This record gives sequence, C-alpha cells and structure tokens, in this order.
Amino acid sequence: MKIVRILFTLIVSIAFLTSCKNEDDNYIDPRGTDYAGSQSCIQCHQTQYENAFHSSHFKATSPATKENILGHFKNGRNTFVYDTETKLVMEERNDSLYQVLYKNGKEVEAHPFEVIFGTKHAQTSAFWQNHYTYELPVSYYKSLNSWATSPGYSASKVNFERKIDKECYGCHSSNIASRYVTTSSDSITFMNQEVEDFMNPKTLVYGIDCERCHGPAKQHVQKHLKFPDLKIAQNITSFKKLSRQQKIDACALCHSGNDKLKVKSRFEFKPGDDLLEYFRGVPGSNDSIHFDVHGNQLGLLSQSKCFKKSETMDCMTCHNPHANASQNLVSYSKICMSCHQGIKHNATTVKTTSASILANNCVECHMPKKMSNAITFQLSQNKNKSNYILRTHKIGIYPSNKK
Ligand code: HEC
Ligand code: HEC
Ligand code: HEC
Ligand code: HEC
Ligand code: HEC
Ligand code: HEC
Ligand code: HEC
Repeated sequence: MKIVRILFTLIVSIAFLTSCKNEDDNYIDPRGTDYAGSQSCIQCHQTQYENAFHSSHFKATSPATKENILGHFKNGRNTFVYDTETKLVMEERNDSLYQVLYKNGKEVEAHPFEVIFGTKHAQTSAFWQNHYTYELPVSYYKSLNSWATSPGYSASKVNFERKIDKECYGCHSSNIASRYVTTSSDSITFMNQEVEDFMNPKTLVYGIDCERCHGPAKQHVQKHLKFPDLKIAQNITSFKKLSRQQKIDACALCHSGNDKLKVKSRFEFKPGDDLLEYFRGVPGSNDSIHFDVHGNQLGLLSQSKCFKKSETMDCMTCHNPHANASQNLVSYSKICMSCHQGIKHNATTVKTTSASILANNCVECHMPKKMSNAITFQLSQNKNKSNYILRTHKIGIYPSNKK
C-alpha cells in the first residue's frame, strides 16, 4: 500500500514537473514571477506583437548595439568641435561605440554608448558608472541628420556628469530596480543619513513592452496555454471594460508631462489604476496653459473643444496603441470627419484653400507643428540654438490658418 502511494506521488510529480517545463522555457522576468515577457505573447497575438515590435514604444530604450545606434561614426561627420583645443569624436573601438574627448589631439576620456533613448526624432545615449547611467554630451538629431548637443547641454563645455536617473526609465523602459544605499560621498541627505538610489543594470527591461501597458500576464498566458479553446480572455484587464478616464490615465502616465509631485513610482501603475494616486498636481501647474509640445500630449489635447465637448475622445480615437503615429495625414482627416461631417468653413477659408487640402489636411491647420521650448540643442561650431519641433495636440483655430 505504502509503495503504491509513493509510486503514485512520484508519477504525479514527474507529470507536474514536465508540464511545468513545457509551459515555461526558463525565462525569468526581472519584474518577478507574475510577468511572462513579450516573447511569450507572439504565439497567440502575432499581429499586436509585430506592430508593437517595430514601434517607438518598444525602442524607447534599447541596448546600444551597432544596429540600434543612429548617427555617423566616420567620414568627418563624427566630430563635435567645442573650441580650437577641444573636440568630441564618435568612434568605433573593438565592436563598441564611444564618445571620446580630445584636448589638443590627446585623448582625455572615453565613454561607451550603453543604453540608448529614442529613434524617431532624436536619440540620446548613456553609459553605466557606479550604479548610475550618465548622459553622453552629444546626441543624434534626425531632422539635421547630424550630431548636436544633448538637450540643454552647452556647446562650449563638455559634460559627462549629468545623471540619467530612474525618472527617465519610468517613462522609457518597462523596469529598472533600485535600492537605497547608505554612502558617504556624492549623495543626497535623507533622515540625516547619506543615501543613494543605486540602479541595477541587470533589472532593466528595455522599451515599453506588452506588460508595461497591460499589466503582469503570466497567469493569462498559463491559462490560455492550458485551455487553448478558451476564446474569452482570462486573467488580464480588458481595456474595453475601462472607463474613458481609466483609458486616458493608462497613456497619461507618460504623456502628461513630468511636472507633478510623485506619490508612487510609475512602475507600479497597472491599467485601471487612478493616476491621481500616483501624482499630485503642483500648485499652478494644473491650470497652466503653456504646456510644452514635448511630452504633454494630454495637457494640450484636454484644452481642445473636441476633447472637452465630445465625451468620447481619448488617445485611441486617433492612435493604435501598438503602432506608431500614422505618417498619413489623410487618415487623420477621416477621423476628424467622423465627428465633423458636413463641416462648413467660412467664405474666406474656402476661397484661400483648395477643396482637396481642406478635405484631406485638417491636421496641418488645426494641429500645426510648434517649437518646443523645453528642448533646444546646438550644432557643432554654431552659436544659434535650434528648437525641437513637434505637432501640437491642442486642436484649435490658429491665427496662421486665417490667411
Ligand atoms: C496561449 C495563447 C495566449 C497567449 C500566449 C497570450 N494570450 Fe492574450 N489572449 C488570448 C486569448 C484566447 C484572448 C481572447 C481573444 C482575443 O482577444 O484575442 C486573449 C486576449 C488578450 C487581450 C485582450 C483582453 C481583452 O479582453 O480586451 C490582451 C490585452 C492580451 N491577451 C494580452 C496578452 C499578453 C500581454 C500576452 C503575453 C504576455 C498574451 N496575451 C499571451 C490568448 C493568449
Ligand atoms: C510607460 C510610459 C508610456 C506609456 C504608458 C505610454 N507611452 Fe506612448 N510613448 C512613451 C515614450 C517614452 C514615447 C517615445 C518613444 C521614443 O520615441 O523613444 C512614446 C511614444 C508614443 C507615440 C509616438 C510613436 C511614434 O513614433 O509615432 C504615440 C502615438 C504614443 N506614445 C501613444 C501612446 C498611447 C495611445 C498610450 C496609451 C495606450 C501610450 N502611448 C502609453 C511612453 C509611454
Ligand atoms: C513623463 C515621461 C517622460 C520622462 C520622465 C522622460 N521622457 Fe523622454 N519622452 C517621453 C515621451 C512621451 C516622448 C515622445 C513624445 C514627445 O516628444 O512628446 C519622449 C521622447 C524622448 C526622446 C526622443 C525620442 C525619439 O524617438 O525621437 C528622447 C531622446 C528622450 N525622450 C529622452 C529622455 C531622457 C534622457 C529622459 C530623462 C532625462 C526622458 N526622456 C524623460 C516621455 C518622457
Ligand atoms: C502603449 C501601450 C500598449 C502596449 C505597449 C501594448 N498594448 Fe496591447 N493594447 C493597448 C490598448 C490601449 C489596447 C486597447 C485598444 C482599444 O481599445 O482600442 C490594447 C489592446 C490589445 C489587445 C486586444 C485586441 C486589440 O488589438 O485591440 C491585445 C490582444 C493586445 N493589446 C496585446 C498586446 C501585446 C501582445 C503587446 C506586446 C506585443 C501589446 N498589446 C502591447 C495598449 C498597449
Ligand atoms: C470624437 C469627436 C471629435 C473628433 C474625432 C474631432 N473633433 Fe473637433 N470637435 C468636436 C466637438 C464636439 C467640438 C466642439 C463643437 C462645438 O463647440 O459645438 C469640436 C471642435 C472643433 C474645432 C473648433 C475649435 C475651436 O476652438 O473653436 C475645430 C477646429 C476642430 N474641432 C477640428 C478637429 C480636427 C482637425 C479633428 C481631427 C484632427 C477633430 N476636430 C476631431 C469633436 C471631435
Ligand atoms: C484627434 C486626433 C488625435 C488624438 C485624439 C491624439 N492624437 Fe496623438 N497625434 C495625432 C496626430 C495628427 C499626430 C501627428 C502625426 C504626424 O505628424 O506624423 C500625433 C502624434 C502623436 C505623437 C508623436 C509626436 C511626434 O511628433 O512624434 C505622440 C507621442 C502622440 N500623438 C500621443 C498622443 C496621446 C498620448 C494622446 C492622448 C492623450 C493622443 N496622441 C491623442 C492625432 C491625435
Ligand atoms: C487651410 C487650413 C484649414 C484646413 C485644411 C482645415 N481647416 Fe478647419 N478651419 C480653418 C480656419 C481658418 C477656420 C476658422 C474660420 C472658418 O470657420 O473657416 C476653421 C474652422 C474649423 C472648425 C470650426 C467651425 C465652427 O463653425 O466653429 C472646424 C470644426 C473645422 N475647421 C474642422 C476642420 C476639419 C474637420 C478639417 C479637415 C476635413 C479642416 N477643418 C480643414 C482652417 C482650416
């Protein structure tokens, strides 16, 4: 009897162990055992995966491989001149890429590209040192097809000391763990102790992945692998069931600026959560009308009549969350027309604009491109500051429209 029982237990545990092995190909997500990782979604959600994989969200941060880094590393286009004695050169050395500082032709210091931020308009990079990442002083700008100072950096003085802290990763990555460590130098004071917020490179999950927006999905994956005939999603929050405000919050987490007082870490946010539990508005910033076009799409959009009066408009009205913003302005006009059928422009507007532009290019006039005041940069040996240009989300009637 005893032997039978032992045998039975053995068989059951072997069966259990092998089934475990089939479900889990040994992937361990740095966020913990509730997370499955994006790779595990492909088998059932190929369309969403393929779209998202090529999106800016997935590349909001990435490892600094040669394929990922934009910008020139040779042919004289790889040098940023500070003054007659000082220059910074983008160099390839043993398969790694570096920014190397030279004084009078002599190398002073060199730092590798290790983590990169962005791909669409601009790309800035960071290197690891003593549990922190530091920004490289020169970034790549697509509109110029050239290197220029990283936003806010001086074109006359090299600076390798600006930290890219956890805040940046809160909007540009899916995870990075840190711990407070008591130290004596280069630190802030906290409760009479010197503490530093050490970041752990091994816990960095690059880019904004599926579970950053959808929440932990390990149980969802396991359930559907086990019951392939289930057609209704299990163990995952459905955006369809969320209120308008909840949907907006899921995007506003990273698209409503960075000027509010933080109560909880952005990494803790799950779809359905109330953003008011994460931030408190700084007095005066809530009713500020001067939101920057960079990083505050919600602030601008919510000043539009369309947003205030429609009661349905959210980011998904115009964006597929898995894909990049469409480059095709006609496609947006169709969306505008879904609410503005039979729109009649006045006689002056009609007279000065061709019917086809009026019908197909709503965005050019009502969401014009604007200069960012938050982001400026300088080209090598050029005294003028350049502004970063983005389309505003404040839909409205702009003076320049009225010819
Ligand atoms: C074994 C198959 C399977 C895997 C693996 C899987 N899912 Fe699903 N998922 C489903 C099924 C089935 C549905 C319901 C039908 C549908 O919406 O496609 C679903 C629906 C969803 C939905 C929509 C929920 C709703 O009701 O609106 C989301 C979001 C989702 N999955 C996310 C994920 C993520 C993220 C991963 C990877 C971490 C993942 N799924 C992996 C099977 C799977
Ligand atoms: C965790 C932070 C985060 C969340 C949540 C988030 N975004 Fe983003 N989003 C970003 C960052 C960072 C970028 C810029 C990425 C880059 O270019 O490096 C971005 C870029 C975009 C873009 C431009 C993509 C392109 O290249 O055209 C759109 C559109 C967008 N987000 C919409 C949304 C919508 C809609 C939601 C909500 C469903 C959302 N985002 C949620 C951080 C986030
Ligand atoms: C509050 C969220 C948030 C924080 C914090 C944040 N970003 Fe961003 N970042 C965004 C969003 C959203 C975009 C893209 C849309 C835009 O420009 O408005 C973006 C765009 C960028 C881009 C241009 C990407 C491209 O593809 O063109 C770079 C580079 C960048 N951020 C770097 C940083 C760095 C470095 C930090 C920290 C110093 C940082 N960001 C902090 C949300 C954030
Ligand atoms: C930027 C945030 C974001 C990211 C990243 C993201 N999703 Fe989604 N996903 C959403 C939102 C928002 C919806 C709801 C769309 C709607 O209601 O129109 C959604 C809907 C879905 C659905 C329901 C069917 C559909 O397409 O509407 C599935 C399945 C899904 N996502 C899977 C994934 C998978 C798999 C990944 C990673 C490859 C992923 N998502 C990445 C925000 C995101
Ligand atoms: C979800 C529905 C909806 C969508 C989509 C929409 N709008 Fe609107 N829009 C409205 C409503 C409602 C009003 C307010 C009308 C009123 O005041 O009676 C409005 C007002 C406007 C106004 C007048 C603004 C002012 O300040 O007087 C303009 C211009 C406008 N929309 C342009 C657009 C454009 C361009 C698009 C596409 C990019 C668009 N709308 C998309 C619903 C929408
Ligand atoms: C009425 C339509 C509409 C709505 C609603 C809307 N967007 Fe956009 N969005 C656009 C258009 C148009 C563009 C510009 C596309 C282009 O010029 O290539 C854009 C571009 C973007 C970009 C890329 C900026 C850049 O220049 O790279 C981001 C990020 C973005 N939207 C985020 C959001 C977020 C977050 C929301 C919700 C708060 C939102 N959008 C709501 C129409 C809309
Ligand atoms: C050449 C620039 C231009 C284009 C393109 C354009 N508009 Fe306008 N729109 C204007 C101007 C200027 C006004 C204010 C004067 C007027 O009503 O003609 C206006 C007014 C409006 C109003 C407010 C009307 C009212 O009575 O309050 C709406 C809504 C609107 N446009 C929607 C659209 C939509 C939707 C499209 C695309 C199908 C579009 N516009 C294309 C320039 C433009």
